[in-house]
Amino acid sequence: MRLFTTIAALRCYLNLQKSAAPHLTVGLVPTMGALHAGHLSLIQRARQENAIALVSIFVNPLQFGPTEDFQDYPRNFEQDRLLCEQAGVDAIFAPSATEMFGHQAVGAETEQTAQKQIEIHLSSLTQVVPPPAMTSVLCGKARPGHFQGVAAIVTKLLSLVQPTKAYFGQKDAQQLAIIRKLVFDFNLPVEIVACPIVREESGLAMSSRNLYLTAEQKQQASVLYRALQQASETFSSGDRTAAAALAAARAAVAEEPAVKLEYAEIVDSDTLTPLQVVETAGLLAVAARVGSTRLIDNIILRNR
Ligand code: PAJ
Repeated sequence: MRLFTTIAALRCYLNLQKSAAPHLTVGLVPTMGALHAGHLSLIQRARQENAIALVSIFVNPLQFGPTEDFQDYPRNFEQDRLLCEQAGVDAIFAPSATEMFGHQAVGAETEQTAQKQIEIHLSSLTQVVPPPAMTSVLCGKARPGHFQGVAAIVTKLLSLVQPTKAYFGQKDAQQLAIIRKLVFDFNLPVEIVACPIVREESGLAMSSRNLYLTAEQKQQASVLYRALQQASETFSSGDRTAAAALAAARAAVAEEPAVKLEYAEIVDSDTLTPLQVVETAGLLAVAARVGSTRLIDNIILRNR
């Protein structure tokens, strides 16, 4: 497995591979590291479907708000490298913030690590602006600027790697919808592959941020999946109104006082516009806090 930390080296590698085999398929899995079974499901799929499987590991400062957990975000590169190697990944791209954005955009960076004191302002970069109607709803309400930061880095990664397919988890359903829209609107020549949510045995959706939770908090957080299932049962029993499914979800979460629901909403999974009645399919998305940790989860309600 190869490891690249510079754009030039990554480009050189990809050019060489493509010149040897012009129709080479490349699968890209963008991540922020601290890899878990959710990430690995994307990586395995990329491995199966492409000649080259490439994983990017970059904790993107642009997508963290000023009071968010950029500094504390879990970083475990050696373990990530091992997991990628075991999964048969061909190459990891793990650039520093300076490599990605250049010295001018990086306000302060310590010598050895791109983890601390980095301040990069979206306004110093060419803007990628997804529709505000998609970035200001759901998680966008509590995380202004987050999805613009995601759109900026994903555009950059897709442009650098020019993959045949790029793999994203359904876990981050809003991110997925925004990236699909970005790819469609800019006619980017890549197929976006959505992968199902991988869960722990308790039902808790796997997340790098679960590392912040104690064993007790993890157990408490599993109420989110039970809430989604109860909403889904209400829906399947024949009441197709969003109000009924949401009431079921909210009632279930209320049974676990340690879990503070931030929102529960049912939206169109492509446009993210709210649905009153689910005619064919709807995305039921929730966000909640357990202690200071923010968790998200979702389920698709499908009218069969
Ligand atoms: P990160 O949170 O590291 O997630 C990388 C990818 O793994 C995303 O597509 C995410 O949806 C997927 N993923 C995470 N948990 C999952 C789970 N339990 N089941 C299935 N897929 C899961 O999402 C990001 O990084 C960043 O925003 C990124 C796209 C890399 C841009 O910086």
